[in-house]
Amino acid sequence: MNPSFQLLPPEASTTAAHLDHLTVYLLIVATFFTVLIFALIFYFAIKYRRRSEYERPVEVHGGMTLEIVWSVVPFLLMMVMFVWGASVFFEMSRPPDDAMNVYVVAKQWMWKTQHLEGHREINELHVPLGRPIRLTMTSEDVIHSFYMPAFRVKFDVLPGRYTTAWFNPTKPGQYHLFCAEYCGTLHSGMIGWIYVMEPSDYETWLAGGTGGESLAASGEKLFQYLACANCHRTDKPGRCPNLEGLFGQPVLLTTNQTVKADEAYIRESILDPGAKIVAGYQNIMPSFQGLVTEEELLQLIEYIKSLGKHPQTVAAPGAIPPGLQTRGTAGGNLLNPPPASPGSQQQQK
Ligand code: CUA
Repeated sequence: MNPSFQLLPPEASTTAAHLDHLTVYLLIVATFFTVLIFALIFYFAIKYRRRSEYERPVEVHGGMTLEIVWSVVPFLLMMVMFVWGASVFFEMSRPPDDAMNVYVVAKQWMWKTQHLEGHREINELHVPLGRPIRLTMTSEDVIHSFYMPAFRVKFDVLPGRYTTAWFNPTKPGQYHLFCAEYCGTLHSGMIGWIYVMEPSDYETWLAGGTGGESLAASGEKLFQYLACANCHRTDKPGRCPNLEGLFGQPVLLTTNQTVKADEAYIRESILDPGAKIVAGYQNIMPSFQGLVTEEELLQLIEYIKSLGKHPQTVAAPGAIPPGLQTRGTAGGNLLNPPPASPGSQQQQK
């Protein structure tokens, strides 16, 4: 047999060991009972075989102890699976708050990864050791699946929305990245490498190379270019909600529902502004569907996030948080807004 043959990929993330221990428990329980049941089948088949034509079996009327034992023991074993499995599931689905954000955009047939500092990579991702990495992923075309066996991460990447996965690498090295969802002719070629580097090496890597400007800085340029700032003013109340400090806050809608301003909400508000209208505002923003790419959307989102970090305006005492701002009246001229298109002068966003 090939000496490098391995039953499992290397364990290179904090979650990997937890998941593997659970898998081993499941395997042991399943194997033990499979062997037990088959052994008993053969044992009873031989022991209680029919010995003569005229033999009649004796009637048996159950045994309470036996019934309780074979109900309670499997119940307890299953509860261990349930509680253990749920805890690993929650661990996998909740990125730590201090996780480092990396964006992933999939397209037929490549992975584009993007660091907040501006570094872009194709079919590669460099990450520092010992730091939780949160992946925010989307697709430009069909469904893909971001699969890194060594970190036990496999998550669907869907067009039109964001999915997140995270991992905390524990061993430096080079690890496989696969696409695990059949996505067309070159699906099998949609592969790459994850490089886990010592933090100092990672800093060196970040400092050199094709850095360029940060995602938020690109987003700010795009925000100006698309004339978003004409309506989303930060210096004075505009016709559209002020975006400062918005990210992560609850937003009150005209329907009286409250939604959290996360990546998905911002993305939807750019592409389909009428879907969720902030209380006190009119539905006057044109859709930017088809005008911004997935990568540009990520830049805009990062820019809006960055607005929260450095609030330039001081809220008046007792002011409603920015995300919950409501305005009683909108300007009269907004009741009949011009049929704005993104190319027109009166861009309303
Ligand atoms: Cu992408 Cu398979």
